[in-house]
Amino acid sequence: MATEARAADAAEARPGTMARPAPGAPDPALAPVPGHGAPAPSMLGTREFSLFYGTHPALKKVSFEVARHSVTAIIGPSGCGKSTLLRSFNRMNDLIPGVRTEGEIRVGGRGVGEVDPVELRRRVGMVFQRPNPFPKSIFENVAFGLRMLGIKDRAELEGRVELGLRRAAIWDEVRDRLERSALQLSGGQQQRVCIARCLAVEPEVILMDEPASALDPTATARIEELVLDLKTSYTILVVTHNMQQAARISDHTVFMLNGELIEHDETPRLFTSPRQKLTEDYITGRFG
Ligand SMILES: Nc1ncnc2c1ncn2[C@@H]1O[C@H](COP(=O)(O)OP(=O)(O)O)[C@@H](O)[C@H]1O
Ligand SMILES: [Mg+2]
Repeated sequence: MATEARAADAAEARPGTMARPAPGAPDPALAPVPGHGAPAPSMLGTREFSLFYGTHPALKKVSFEVARHSVTAIIGPSGCGKSTLLRSFNRMNDLIPGVRTEGEIRVGGRGVGEVDPVELRRRVGMVFQRPNPFPKSIFENVAFGLRMLGIKDRAELEGRVELGLRRAAIWDEVRDRLERSALQLSGGQQQRVCIARCLAVEPEVILMDEPASALDPTATARIEELVLDLKTSYTILVVTHNMQQAARISDHTVFMLNGELIEHDETPRLFTSPRQKLTEDYITGRFG
């Protein structure tokens, strides 16, 4: 699918339309700044990152790195800070009054504070737990971000909407009803339309907050397949409370507890021979 999508992308690209790098291609604007900290081969990173809601510490000195074109799962009990951590990468927490942060959070080697939030959110897309299509047509849902970028040309919009839907593995199901309301689709289809909306603006990173937890097992399996397919072109950070799912789809897993990162390792290792007793207790179901 990804190869086909890239071929379609190349066929689609026309001079003078959108001057943006292909998905996954290094973006010069996000290149590591020479001499600024350690060399950063990673796509995402945090160092001693803390976040407070008022006086409540939701993240405590969290440090980890995420390699380009990989999937990292974030697991841990409810309230441990998974969503807060995810939202820190595209500055969505900035929208919450009373939030204060310390330490460093990087995308593509740059501190997120140095990047314009609107541009950051295009590069770092987000998919939520509940599919949240707008009460508009399937086409307009996927075209939404493109219109925000100022693209008006109908042929270009159509090409990019199709590409987003193809990459999200839902084109064949909706190609003959693009003008129908997205709300008429099943939950799993709605979630893939939301993923298409995210992909249409060509992000480099996709943040997914429990993207399948509101879906049935068949729709969940399709989302999992899609994540594995997308990681050839994108860097993915996915929160899940389903440990089997983390084991199936991720290369690395981060285990959080009470705002602290307890363990971060290659997924098979974390699930088969965790280094920390707390991780072992959690994955064996002693709490959570
Ligand atoms: N908007 C907010 N305002 C105040 N506290 C919040 C807010 N969002 C989350 N929290 C608190 O921060 C902690 C982490 O929450 P969250 O990141 O949602 O955890 P998780 O996604 O792991 O369930 C919890 O104690 C939660 O109550
Ligand atoms: Mg959450």
